[in-house]
Amino acid sequence: MTIKENIIWATKQLVNSCERPQYEAELLLAYHLNQNRIYLIVHDEEEVENINKYQNLIERRAQHEPYEYIVGVASFYDIHLNVEEGVLIPRPETEILIDLVADIIEKDKITAIAEIGVGSGAISIVLARKFPNLCITATDISDKPLQISHININKYDLSDRISLLKSNLLDEVQEEIELVVSNPPYIAEDFLLESNVVDYEPKEALFGGRVGDELLKQIILDVKARGVKYLACEMGYDQKEPLEAFVKDVGVKYIKFYKDLAGFDRGFVIEFHKEM
Ligand SMILES: C[S@@+](CC[C@H](N)C(=O)[O-])C[C@H]1O[C@@H](n2cnc3c(N)ncnc32)[C@H](O)[C@@H]1O
Repeated sequence: MTIKENIIWATKQLVNSCERPQYEAELLLAYHLNQNRIYLIVHDEEEVENINKYQNLIERRAQHEPYEYIVGVASFYDIHLNVEEGVLIPRPETEILIDLVADIIEKDKITAIAEIGVGSGAISIVLARKFPNLCITATDISDKPLQISHININKYDLSDRISLLKSNLLDEVQEEIELVVSNPPYIAEDFLLESNVVDYEPKEALFGGRVGDELLKQIILDVKARGVKYLACEMGYDQKEPLEAFVKDVGVKYIKFYKDLAGFDRGFVIEFHKEM
């Protein structure tokens, strides 16, 4: 079968699993041939070798396996991260969190921060690349994210400034830190997710508890107890009200919520009062 025929066949297989079946059929064929998409257009009458391998990629995608797990790479901000099952695929909305944190780091000339729930390393790697004097302690409770983020940190030559720690939240962190950033699991346990998410991505990265915001609340309490000045977190679209009420009881200098590009509440920045 030629390139053109393969794309027609694959597009039909992907109709029920992808929003843009032809585009993904082409991306996966380009990946299979180790070429770019332009090559497919220019060489559309060329025979495809190892066709079974390509068909296997298409079958996996037709079963809703995320594209990023199939090819082993996710694009995020200005970097490419290795990903595989067991590690959350970084989402574009997390780039907003990074920009807000970057503003604070720049304004307060911060040099030491921690990340809770490092996953693929997306947040810590982008921040370390933006700020050459920044040191980051990044924790995760699961082994797979720690393995994969270790690979990604080395890929960008940042192992001297990002230290990884297996830890529940900040429990094992000894360093003095000025800011904590986190995109923790914040989805309610009974929330219905799409098959490509719930069947493939790690539960520990998605679900924050019965209600969903349990871990976020614990992070707020832990960060305050450590006397850290700032906390910036991603959260669910419906968590603004309960978190606003929660921090009123806890006592903070301010909490500012931010929205994602679709206009949904998506996270917050807290500044805590300086302990006397
Ligand atoms: C939503 S993912 C975020 C990954 C990455 N930071 C990103 O934004 O793409 C949450 C991460 O937190 C980790 N995690 C869950 N509970 C944790 C806990 N109690 N302490 C530390 N990490 C935790 C998960 O293993 C997962 O890697």
